[in-house]
Amino acid sequence: MAEVDYKSKPIDPDFLNKPEEYPHTGSHHEHKVFAEGVQRLDADGKPYPTKKGIHGAHVAVDFDSCIADGSCLPVCPVEVFEWALNPAHDEVGEDKKIASGTPEWDEWRTDKADPVREADCIDCMACETVCPVLAIKIFTEQPYGTQ
Ligand code: F3S
Ligand code: F3S
Ligand code: ZN
Repeated sequence: MAEVDYKSKPIDPDFLNKPEEYPHTGSHHEHKVFAEGVQRLDADGKPYPTKKGIHGAHVAVDFDSCIADGSCLPVCPVEVFEWALNPAHDEVGEDKKIASGTPEWDEWRTDKADPVREADCIDCMACETVCPVLAIKIFTEQPYGTQ
């Protein structure tokens, strides 16, 4: 887990029903991205230093909450995740290490678990359970996210 200068907040489990707060802002590896570029608050009520938003609508990872613990990647039986900044790697500790004070630090703080094969998810829920900061939410039923 990386050292960071903010306090992670669990992903909002109702974010798909709050399009004003979490607008659909794009897509990435065939999953949707929400609230990228939107200023949100951390667990201390302070502005998150990053504005990466949430990746995925079935396997949703709050990139601003994720602090590269890594447990979610190898626990997935169908290899849904890869490190966002170290593609094709999915083990604990294989996240790209980012030096503080660099432009990459300003944008990312840490590497993130990216649900690159979201469509393969079999809803085993292991990733959601294992994340120490509760950055992942699995939606077994889709409010509107993947249509
Ligand atoms: Fe994998 Fe998580 Fe789905 S562990 S199978 S992405 S619920
Ligand atoms: Fe990030 Fe949690 Fe996985 S901190 S790397 S989403 S276990
Ligand atoms: Zn992504």
